[in-house]
Amino acid sequence: MCYAIPGLVEEIENNLAIIDYFGEKRKAYNELEHLSPGDFVYAQGGFVIKKIPPEEAQSILSTWKETFFELQEVDLRLSRLQLERKAISNDLLRILDKVLEEKTLSQKEALFLLNLEDEKERELLYKTANFLRRKYLGNSCCVHGIIEFSNFCSRNCSYCGISIHNRKLKRYRMSDEEIIQTAIQAIDQYGFQALVLQSGEDPCFPAKRLAELIKELKRQRPVLIFVSCGEVGERGLEILYQAGARGILMRFETSNPVLYEKLHPGYSLEERIQHLKIAYQIGYLIITGALIGLPGQSDEDLLNDIFLTSELRAEMCSFGPFLPHPETPLGHSRPPNKTRVLNALALIRILAPKHSKILVTTAFETLDPLARENGLMAGANSLMLNVTPAHFRKQYVIYPHRAHEKESLEDQIKQTLQLLYKLGRAPTDLGTEITNGENKA
Ligand code: 5AD
Repeated sequence: MCYAIPGLVEEIENNLAIIDYFGEKRKAYNELEHLSPGDFVYAQGGFVIKKIPPEEAQSILSTWKETFFELQEVDLRLSRLQLERKAISNDLLRILDKVLEEKTLSQKEALFLLNLEDEKERELLYKTANFLRRKYLGNSCCVHGIIEFSNFCSRNCSYCGISIHNRKLKRYRMSDEEIIQTAIQAIDQYGFQALVLQSGEDPCFPAKRLAELIKELKRQRPVLIFVSCGEVGERGLEILYQAGARGILMRFETSNPVLYEKLHPGYSLEERIQHLKIAYQIGYLIITGALIGLPGQSDEDLLNDIFLTSELRAEMCSFGPFLPHPETPLGHSRPPNKTRVLNALALIRILAPKHSKILVTTAFETLDPLARENGLMAGANSLMLNVTPAHFRKQYVIYPHRAHEKESLEDQIKQTLQLLYKLGRAPTDLGTEITNGENKA
Protein backbone atom coordinates (compact mmCIF):
# COMPACT_ATOMS: atom_id res chain seq x y z
CA MET A 1 0.00 0.00 0.00
CA CYS A 2 2.68 2.60 0.69
CA TYR A 3 0.08 5.31 1.13
CA ALA A 4 1.90 7.94 -0.85
CA ILE A 5 1.46 11.42 0.50
CA PRO A 6 0.94 13.98 -2.24
CA GLY A 7 4.09 16.02 -2.73
CA LEU A 8 4.45 19.49 -4.22
CA VAL A 9 6.89 19.76 -7.11
CA GLU A 10 9.24 22.63 -6.37
CA GLU A 11 11.76 22.33 -9.14
CA ILE A 12 12.50 20.15 -12.13
CA GLU A 13 15.95 19.87 -13.54
CA ASN A 14 16.98 17.26 -16.10
CA ASN A 15 14.12 14.90 -15.26
CA LEU A 16 14.87 15.20 -11.57
CA ALA A 17 12.03 16.68 -9.56
CA ILE A 18 12.51 18.20 -6.13
CA ILE A 19 9.40 17.45 -4.14
CA ASP A 20 8.23 19.01 -0.88
CA TYR A 21 6.45 16.99 1.82
CA PHE A 22 5.44 19.17 4.75
CA GLY A 23 8.75 20.97 4.50
CA GLU A 24 10.91 17.90 3.83
CA LYS A 25 12.56 17.88 0.41
CA ARG A 26 12.97 14.71 -1.60
CA LYS A 27 14.09 13.97 -5.11
CA ALA A 28 12.33 11.79 -7.65
CA TYR A 29 13.01 10.90 -11.24
CA ASN A 30 10.28 12.21 -13.52
CA GLU A 31 9.10 10.43 -16.65
CA LEU A 32 5.74 12.21 -17.01
CA GLU A 33 5.46 14.48 -20.01
CA HIS A 34 3.69 17.51 -18.61
CA LEU A 35 5.01 18.20 -15.18
CA SER A 36 5.77 21.66 -13.84
CA PRO A 37 6.71 23.25 -10.54
CA GLY A 38 3.53 23.77 -8.52
CA ASP A 39 2.02 20.41 -9.53
CA PHE A 40 1.09 17.81 -6.93
CA VAL A 41 2.34 14.28 -7.47
CA TYR A 42 2.65 10.84 -5.95
CA ALA A 43 6.18 9.48 -6.01
CA GLN A 44 7.40 6.00 -5.18
CA GLY A 45 10.84 4.41 -5.01
CA GLY A 46 12.35 7.65 -6.26
CA PHE A 47 10.08 7.83 -9.34
CA VAL A 48 7.23 10.26 -9.95
CA ILE A 49 4.24 7.97 -10.44
CA LYS A 50 1.37 10.28 -11.19
CA LYS A 51 0.07 13.83 -11.10
CA ILE A 52 -2.91 14.59 -8.88
CA PRO A 53 -5.43 17.44 -9.11
CA PRO A 54 -4.59 20.19 -6.58
CA GLU A 55 -7.98 20.02 -4.81
CA GLU A 56 -7.60 16.29 -4.27
CA ALA A 57 -4.01 16.75 -3.07
CA GLN A 58 -4.97 19.53 -0.63
CA SER A 59 -7.75 17.48 0.87
CA ILE A 60 -5.52 14.41 1.36
CA LEU A 61 -2.75 16.59 2.77
CA SER A 62 -5.02 18.17 5.32
CA THR A 63 -6.04 14.74 6.67
CA TRP A 64 -2.45 13.50 6.61
CA LYS A 65 -0.79 16.49 8.17
CA GLU A 66 -1.66 15.78 11.77
CA THR A 67 -0.97 12.04 11.51
CA PHE A 68 2.33 12.71 9.74
CA PHE A 69 3.72 14.72 12.64
CA GLU A 70 2.13 12.50 15.30
CA LEU A 71 3.78 9.41 13.86
CA GLN A 72 7.12 11.17 13.64
CA GLU A 73 6.88 12.05 17.30
CA VAL A 74 6.13 8.47 18.36
CA ASP A 75 9.03 7.23 16.26
CA LEU A 76 11.36 9.83 17.72
CA ARG A 77 10.42 8.74 21.22
CA LEU A 78 10.88 5.03 20.47
CA SER A 79 14.17 5.39 18.68
CA ARG A 80 15.95 7.63 21.14
CA LEU A 81 19.28 6.16 22.05
CA GLN A 82 20.34 6.31 25.64
CA LEU A 83 23.46 4.23 25.73
CA GLU A 84 22.74 2.16 28.79
CA ARG A 85 26.31 1.26 29.72
CA LYS A 86 25.62 -0.98 32.67
CA ALA A 87 26.29 -4.68 32.07
CA ILE A 88 27.63 -3.98 28.60
CA SER A 89 31.12 -5.08 27.64
CA ASN A 90 33.71 -2.44 26.83
CA ASP A 91 34.32 -4.09 23.49
CA LEU A 92 30.72 -3.61 22.46
CA LEU A 93 30.59 -0.03 23.72
CA ARG A 94 33.72 0.82 21.77
CA ILE A 95 32.36 -0.71 18.56
CA LEU A 96 28.99 1.01 18.90
CA ASP A 97 30.69 4.34 19.57
CA LYS A 98 32.58 3.79 16.35
CA VAL A 99 29.29 3.03 14.56
CA LEU A 100 27.73 6.24 15.84
CA GLU A 101 30.77 8.21 14.78
CA GLU A 102 30.23 6.68 11.32
CA LYS A 103 33.64 5.08 11.25
CA THR A 104 34.23 1.94 9.20
CA LEU A 105 34.21 -1.27 11.23
CA SER A 106 36.87 -3.92 10.79
CA GLN A 107 35.79 -7.42 9.78
CA LYS A 108 36.51 -8.59 13.31
CA GLU A 109 34.27 -5.90 14.80
CA ALA A 110 31.44 -6.66 12.37
CA LEU A 111 31.65 -10.36 13.21
CA PHE A 112 31.60 -9.49 16.89
CA LEU A 113 28.25 -7.76 16.37
CA LEU A 114 26.88 -10.60 14.24
CA ASN A 115 27.64 -13.07 17.01
CA LEU A 116 26.34 -11.12 20.00
CA GLU A 117 24.32 -13.38 22.27
CA ASP A 118 23.79 -11.59 25.55
CA GLU A 119 20.25 -10.22 25.63
CA LYS A 120 21.13 -6.78 27.03
CA GLU A 121 23.94 -6.39 24.54
CA ARG A 122 21.76 -7.43 21.64
CA GLU A 123 19.12 -4.96 22.72
CA LEU A 124 21.70 -2.21 22.50
CA LEU A 125 22.76 -3.38 19.04
CA TYR A 126 19.15 -3.30 17.81
CA LYS A 127 18.55 0.10 19.37
CA THR A 128 21.62 1.47 17.65
CA ALA A 129 20.45 0.09 14.31
CA ASN A 130 16.99 1.55 14.87
CA PHE A 131 18.50 4.91 15.77
CA LEU A 132 20.43 4.91 12.49
CA ARG A 133 17.31 3.92 10.54
CA ARG A 134 15.49 6.97 11.86
CA LYS A 135 18.46 9.25 11.42
CA TYR A 136 19.00 8.30 7.77
CA LEU A 137 15.54 7.43 6.55
CA GLY A 138 13.02 8.95 8.92
CA ASN A 139 9.86 7.09 9.83
CA SER A 140 8.65 6.05 6.41
CA CYS A 141 8.03 2.34 5.90
CA CYS A 142 7.65 0.99 2.40
CA VAL A 143 4.83 -1.47 1.98
CA HIS A 144 4.89 -3.09 -1.43
CA GLY A 145 2.45 -5.67 -2.73
CA ILE A 146 3.59 -8.94 -4.26
CA ILE A 147 1.72 -11.04 -6.81
CA GLU A 148 2.99 -14.60 -7.18
CA PHE A 149 1.63 -15.35 -10.62
CA SER A 150 3.21 -18.75 -11.37
CA ASN A 151 4.86 -21.42 -9.25
CA PHE A 152 6.35 -23.27 -12.22
CA CYS A 153 10.13 -23.19 -12.06
CA SER A 154 12.83 -24.77 -14.16
CA ARG A 155 15.65 -24.22 -11.64
CA ASN A 156 17.16 -26.68 -9.22
CA CYS A 157 17.84 -24.53 -6.11
CA SER A 158 18.32 -27.16 -3.44
CA TYR A 159 16.47 -25.22 -0.72
CA CYS A 160 13.44 -24.04 -2.65
CA GLY A 161 10.03 -25.69 -2.43
CA ILE A 162 8.95 -24.59 -5.91
CA SER A 163 12.15 -25.84 -7.58
CA ILE A 164 12.14 -28.87 -9.88
CA HIS A 165 12.97 -31.02 -6.84
CA ASN A 166 9.43 -30.81 -5.59
CA ARG A 167 7.39 -33.29 -7.61
CA LYS A 168 4.47 -33.26 -5.22
CA LEU A 169 3.61 -29.58 -5.65
CA LYS A 170 0.47 -28.66 -7.55
CA ARG A 171 1.61 -26.09 -10.07
CA TYR A 172 -0.41 -23.08 -11.21
CA ARG A 173 -0.17 -20.19 -13.61
CA MET A 174 -2.41 -17.17 -13.37
CA SER A 175 -3.76 -15.97 -16.70
CA ASP A 176 -2.70 -12.54 -17.98
CA GLU A 177 -6.20 -11.32 -17.26
CA GLU A 178 -6.07 -12.63 -13.67
CA ILE A 179 -2.70 -10.98 -13.07
CA ILE A 180 -3.90 -7.62 -14.35
CA GLN A 181 -7.14 -7.82 -12.41
CA THR A 182 -5.25 -8.72 -9.22
CA ALA A 183 -2.92 -5.78 -9.74
CA ILE A 184 -5.73 -3.36 -10.46
CA GLN A 185 -7.63 -4.46 -7.38
CA ALA A 186 -4.48 -4.02 -5.26
CA ILE A 187 -4.06 -0.51 -6.64
CA ASP A 188 -7.69 0.68 -6.66
CA GLN A 189 -9.12 -1.06 -3.66
CA TYR A 190 -6.14 -1.23 -1.34
CA GLY A 191 -4.01 1.71 -2.42
CA PHE A 192 -0.82 -0.09 -3.43
CA GLN A 193 1.57 2.10 -5.39
CA ALA A 194 4.33 -0.43 -5.93
CA LEU A 195 3.85 -4.05 -6.95
CA VAL A 196 6.27 -6.93 -7.34
CA LEU A 197 5.41 -9.48 -10.03
CA GLN A 198 7.00 -12.74 -8.93
CA SER A 199 7.19 -16.26 -10.33
CA GLY A 200 9.58 -19.17 -10.68
CA GLU A 201 11.64 -19.26 -13.87
CA ASP A 202 8.67 -20.28 -15.98
CA PRO A 203 9.30 -20.78 -19.72
CA CYS A 204 5.62 -20.02 -20.35
CA PHE A 205 6.24 -16.44 -19.23
CA PRO A 206 9.09 -15.29 -21.47
CA ALA A 207 10.10 -11.62 -21.20
CA LYS A 208 7.99 -10.71 -24.24
CA ARG A 209 4.79 -11.98 -22.66
CA LEU A 210 5.62 -10.29 -19.36
CA ALA A 211 6.40 -7.08 -21.21
CA GLU A 212 2.95 -7.07 -22.87
CA LEU A 213 1.39 -7.63 -19.49
CA ILE A 214 3.33 -4.79 -17.88
CA LYS A 215 2.52 -2.45 -20.78
CA GLU A 216 -1.17 -3.22 -20.43
CA LEU A 217 -1.09 -2.70 -16.68
CA LYS A 218 0.84 0.57 -17.00
CA ARG A 219 -1.63 1.69 -19.67
CA GLN A 220 -4.45 1.15 -17.21
CA ARG A 221 -2.86 2.39 -13.95
CA PRO A 222 0.22 4.35 -12.85
CA VAL A 223 2.21 2.02 -10.59
CA LEU A 224 5.82 1.18 -9.82
CA ILE A 225 6.50 -2.35 -11.07
CA PHE A 226 9.27 -4.64 -9.82
CA VAL A 227 9.90 -7.86 -11.73
CA SER A 228 10.98 -10.93 -9.81
CA CYS A 229 11.08 -13.79 -12.27
CA GLY A 230 14.69 -14.91 -12.02
CA GLU A 231 17.34 -14.46 -14.66
CA VAL A 232 15.65 -13.11 -17.78
CA GLY A 233 18.93 -12.15 -19.49
CA GLU A 234 20.19 -8.78 -20.68
CA ARG A 235 17.74 -8.59 -23.57
CA GLY A 236 14.91 -9.63 -21.28
CA LEU A 237 15.84 -6.91 -18.80
CA GLU A 238 15.83 -4.35 -21.60
CA ILE A 239 12.45 -5.46 -22.93
CA LEU A 240 10.90 -5.35 -19.48
CA TYR A 241 12.35 -1.92 -18.75
CA GLN A 242 11.01 -0.59 -22.04
CA ALA A 243 7.62 -2.02 -21.12
CA GLY A 244 7.65 0.02 -17.91
CA ALA A 245 9.20 -2.15 -15.19
CA ARG A 246 11.46 0.01 -13.00
CA GLY A 247 12.66 -2.40 -10.35
CA ILE A 248 13.99 -5.91 -10.05
CA LEU A 249 13.82 -8.18 -7.03
CA MET A 250 16.39 -10.92 -7.30
CA ARG A 251 18.57 -12.27 -4.52
CA PHE A 252 22.03 -13.56 -5.30
CA GLU A 253 21.26 -16.03 -2.45
CA THR A 254 24.91 -16.36 -1.30
CA SER A 255 28.08 -14.47 -2.15
CA ASN A 256 30.20 -17.58 -1.75
CA PRO A 257 30.72 -18.96 -5.29
CA VAL A 258 31.52 -22.48 -4.09
CA LEU A 259 28.43 -22.63 -1.90
CA TYR A 260 26.38 -21.08 -4.72
CA GLU A 261 27.34 -23.83 -7.14
CA LYS A 262 26.72 -26.51 -4.56
CA LEU A 263 23.20 -25.21 -3.96
CA HIS A 264 22.50 -24.50 -7.65
CA PRO A 265 24.33 -27.22 -9.62
CA GLY A 266 25.15 -26.07 -13.13
CA TYR A 267 24.58 -22.36 -12.42
CA SER A 268 27.12 -19.71 -11.57
CA LEU A 269 27.15 -16.89 -9.08
CA GLU A 270 29.07 -14.75 -11.51
CA GLU A 271 26.23 -14.82 -14.02
CA ARG A 272 23.70 -13.90 -11.38
CA ILE A 273 25.77 -10.97 -10.17
CA GLN A 274 26.32 -9.85 -13.74
CA HIS A 275 22.57 -9.89 -14.25
CA LEU A 276 22.05 -7.60 -11.26
CA LYS A 277 24.82 -5.27 -12.43
CA ILE A 278 23.30 -4.99 -15.90
CA ALA A 279 19.89 -4.31 -14.37
CA TYR A 280 21.40 -1.45 -12.40
CA GLN A 281 23.07 -0.04 -15.50
CA ILE A 282 19.78 -0.15 -17.39
CA GLY A 283 18.22 1.91 -14.59
CA TYR A 284 16.38 -0.60 -12.47
CA LEU A 285 15.95 -0.12 -8.75
CA ILE A 286 17.61 -3.12 -7.19
CA ILE A 287 16.23 -5.27 -4.40
CA THR A 288 18.66 -8.03 -3.57
CA GLY A 289 20.22 -9.98 -0.74
CA ALA A 290 20.82 -13.49 0.49
CA LEU A 291 19.54 -16.30 2.63
CA ILE A 292 20.54 -16.27 6.29
CA GLY A 293 21.60 -19.60 7.76
CA LEU A 294 22.03 -21.63 4.60
CA PRO A 295 23.68 -24.97 5.44
CA GLY A 296 27.40 -24.44 4.83
CA GLN A 297 27.26 -20.63 5.20
CA SER A 298 30.00 -19.22 7.42
CA ASP A 299 29.90 -15.97 9.39
CA GLU A 300 32.34 -14.48 6.87
CA ASP A 301 30.01 -15.54 4.04
CA LEU A 302 27.10 -13.70 5.61
CA LEU A 303 29.25 -10.63 6.11
CA ASN A 304 30.31 -10.79 2.47
CA ASP A 305 26.63 -11.11 1.50
CA ILE A 306 26.02 -7.77 3.18
CA PHE A 307 28.98 -6.17 1.40
CA LEU A 308 27.91 -7.58 -1.96
CA THR A 309 24.40 -6.16 -1.48
CA SER A 310 25.93 -2.70 -1.05
CA GLU A 311 28.23 -3.20 -3.99
CA LEU A 312 25.22 -4.02 -6.13
CA ARG A 313 23.71 -0.70 -5.01
CA ALA A 314 20.58 -2.23 -3.58
CA GLU A 315 17.96 0.35 -2.83
CA MET A 316 16.39 -2.35 -0.67
CA CYS A 317 18.15 -5.23 1.09
CA SER A 318 16.20 -8.48 1.23
CA PHE A 319 17.66 -10.98 3.71
CA GLY A 320 15.55 -13.76 5.18
CA PRO A 321 16.18 -17.02 7.01
CA PHE A 322 16.56 -20.31 5.18
CA LEU A 323 13.61 -22.51 6.14
CA PRO A 324 13.80 -26.21 5.24
CA HIS A 325 11.24 -27.60 2.83
CA PRO A 326 10.79 -31.39 3.15
CA GLU A 327 10.56 -32.01 -0.60
CA THR A 328 14.01 -30.53 -1.28
CA PRO A 329 17.56 -31.86 -0.83
CA LEU A 330 17.98 -29.56 2.20
CA GLY A 331 14.74 -30.71 3.79
CA HIS A 332 16.49 -32.11 6.87
CA SER A 333 18.70 -29.11 7.57
CA ARG A 334 18.03 -26.75 10.43
CA PRO A 335 16.92 -23.15 10.06
CA PRO A 336 18.88 -20.37 11.81
CA ASN A 337 17.59 -19.06 15.12
CA LYS A 338 15.83 -15.76 15.54
CA THR A 339 18.84 -14.06 17.11
CA ARG A 340 20.95 -14.78 14.07
CA VAL A 341 18.41 -13.12 11.78
CA LEU A 342 17.88 -10.06 14.00
CA ASN A 343 21.63 -9.60 14.46
CA ALA A 344 22.07 -9.82 10.69
CA LEU A 345 19.35 -7.21 10.06
CA ALA A 346 20.92 -4.82 12.56
CA LEU A 347 24.34 -5.38 11.02
CA ILE A 348 22.97 -4.66 7.55
CA ARG A 349 21.64 -1.33 8.82
CA ILE A 350 25.07 -0.55 10.27
CA LEU A 351 27.10 -1.63 7.23
CA ALA A 352 24.86 -0.87 4.24
CA PRO A 353 24.68 2.57 2.64
CA LYS A 354 22.64 5.07 4.62
CA HIS A 355 19.70 5.21 2.27
CA SER A 356 19.17 1.48 1.79
CA LYS A 357 15.81 0.20 2.84
CA ILE A 358 15.74 -3.09 4.71
CA LEU A 359 12.92 -5.58 4.38
CA VAL A 360 11.38 -7.74 7.08
CA THR A 361 10.70 -10.88 5.07
CA THR A 362 7.76 -13.25 5.30
CA ALA A 363 10.28 -16.04 5.92
CA PHE A 364 11.41 -14.26 9.09
CA GLU A 365 7.78 -13.86 10.15
CA THR A 366 7.31 -17.58 9.53
CA LEU A 367 10.29 -18.30 11.79
CA ASP A 368 8.99 -16.10 14.58
CA PRO A 369 5.60 -14.46 15.15
CA LEU A 370 7.14 -11.24 16.52
CA ALA A 371 9.62 -10.92 13.68
CA ARG A 372 7.90 -7.97 12.05
CA GLU A 373 7.90 -5.75 15.12
CA ASN A 374 11.34 -6.88 16.24
CA GLY A 375 12.81 -6.43 12.75
CA LEU A 376 11.35 -2.95 12.38
CA MET A 377 12.90 -2.05 15.75
CA ALA A 378 16.30 -3.43 14.70
CA GLY A 379 16.97 -1.36 11.59
CA ALA A 380 14.41 -2.60 9.06
CA ASN A 381 11.86 -0.31 7.41
CA SER A 382 10.06 -2.17 4.65
CA LEU A 383 7.42 -4.83 4.28
CA MET A 384 5.80 -6.73 1.46
CA LEU A 385 2.22 -7.88 1.64
CA ASN A 386 1.03 -10.80 -0.39
CA VAL A 387 -1.78 -9.73 -2.70
CA THR A 388 -1.93 -13.03 -4.63
CA PRO A 389 -5.47 -14.48 -4.63
CA ALA A 390 -5.69 -16.84 -1.62
CA HIS A 391 -6.27 -20.05 -3.59
CA PHE A 392 -3.02 -19.52 -5.52
CA ARG A 393 -1.08 -18.13 -2.57
CA LYS A 394 -1.29 -21.39 -0.65
CA GLN A 395 0.39 -23.19 -3.57
CA TYR A 396 3.40 -20.88 -3.68
CA VAL A 397 5.19 -23.01 -1.11
CA ILE A 398 8.84 -21.92 -1.27
CA TYR A 399 8.94 -23.11 2.35
CA PRO A 400 6.14 -24.62 4.46
CA HIS A 401 3.58 -22.80 6.64
CA ARG A 402 4.27 -19.34 5.30
CA ALA A 403 3.11 -16.52 7.56
CA HIS A 404 -0.11 -14.81 6.37
CA GLU A 405 -0.80 -17.77 4.08
CA LYS A 406 -4.46 -17.82 4.94
CA GLU A 407 -5.13 -14.23 5.97
CA SER A 408 -7.30 -12.03 3.82
CA LEU A 409 -5.63 -8.98 2.36
CA GLU A 410 -7.94 -6.78 4.44
CA ASP A 411 -6.68 -8.44 7.62
CA GLN A 412 -3.06 -8.22 6.52
CA ILE A 413 -3.46 -4.50 5.87
CA LYS A 414 -5.28 -3.91 9.14
CA GLN A 415 -2.59 -5.65 11.16
CA THR A 416 0.19 -3.90 9.27
CA LEU A 417 -1.29 -0.47 9.85
CA GLN A 418 -1.88 -1.18 13.53
CA LEU A 419 1.73 -2.17 14.00
CA LEU A 420 3.11 0.72 11.97
CA TYR A 421 1.05 3.26 13.87
CA LYS A 422 2.09 1.72 17.19
CA LEU A 423 5.74 2.11 16.16
CA GLY A 424 5.26 5.60 14.74
CA ARG A 425 5.96 4.58 11.17
CA ALA A 426 4.20 6.08 8.19
CA PRO A 427 3.31 3.57 5.45
CA THR A 428 4.71 5.88 2.84
CA ASP A 429 7.69 6.09 0.62
CA LEU A 430 8.99 9.60 0.43
CA GLY A 431 12.19 8.69 -1.40
CA THR A 432 15.62 10.16 -0.95
CA GLU A 433 16.10 13.17 1.25
CA ILE A 434 17.58 16.42 0.00
CA THR A 435 19.18 19.09 2.14
CA ASN A 436 19.60 22.51 0.58
CA GLY A 437 19.05 20.99 -2.80
CA GLU A 438 21.81 18.46 -2.24
CA ASN A 439 21.49 14.74 -1.97
CA LYS A 440 22.75 13.72 1.44
CA ALA A 441 23.80 10.26 0.28
N1 5AD B 1 13.59 -20.77 2.81
C1 5AD B 1 13.62 -19.42 2.76
N2 5AD B 1 13.63 -18.71 1.62
C2 5AD B 1 13.57 -19.39 0.46
N3 5AD B 1 13.57 -18.98 -0.81
C3 5AD B 1 13.49 -20.06 -1.60
N4 5AD B 1 13.45 -21.16 -0.87
C4 5AD B 1 13.50 -20.79 0.44
C5 5AD B 1 13.51 -21.49 1.66
N5 5AD B 1 13.47 -22.80 1.72
C6 5AD B 1 13.73 -17.59 -1.20
C7 5AD B 1 14.91 -17.41 -2.12
C8 5AD B 1 14.32 -16.76 -3.33
C9 5AD B 1 13.02 -16.21 -2.83
C10 5AD B 1 11.97 -16.00 -3.85
O1 5AD B 1 12.60 -17.16 -1.90
O2 5AD B 1 15.89 -16.58 -1.52
O3 5AD B 1 15.13 -15.77 -3.89
